[in-house]
Amino acid sequence: MRIAIACDHGGFPLKKDIIELVQCLGHEVVDLGTMDATPVDYPDYAEKAGLAVQRGEVDRAIVVCGSGVGACVAANKIKGVYAALSHDTYSAHQGVEHDNVNLLCLGARIVGVELAKEIVKAFLGATFSQNERFQRRFGKVKAIEQRQLG
Ligand code: RB5
Repeated sequence: MRIAIACDHGGFPLKKDIIELVQCLGHEVVDLGTMDATPVDYPDYAEKAGLAVQRGEVDRAIVVCGSGVGACVAANKIKGVYAALSHDTYSAHQGVEHDNVNLLCLGARIVGVELAKEIVKAFLGATFSQNERFQRRFGKVKAIEQRQLG
């Protein structure tokens, strides 16, 4: 898959390790910054990654900020983006399988590098279930999105 990776200064310490892992897993990485630890605003990077997903330039995205929370809130404002903050491996794969999550958020101040890598592996290794109940529920999420975002 083609995977966008973006972070703010809070997420920057994890970015290099995540990029290396994603490449090692055989995926192509699109690095959307930030490129150093200078303070920046997380919505700018969540938006870059979310738009890359929305436009179909990448299959999925990973956004890292300090807590992962701000990135998740911002990314979920973009139509067609289903972002989740996952700090455990179960929700990282279950979010894709049941909820069609296409943008993973991580907090570099919350999880260490080894756990973050396991979470990324779980996220990238999962696919959205064809099971009727998950498709039906996702359809309802899309209906809310349509009503709210047009
Ligand atoms: C930046 O200090 C921090 O607020 C940001 O990385 C993130 O944690 C926001 O949710």
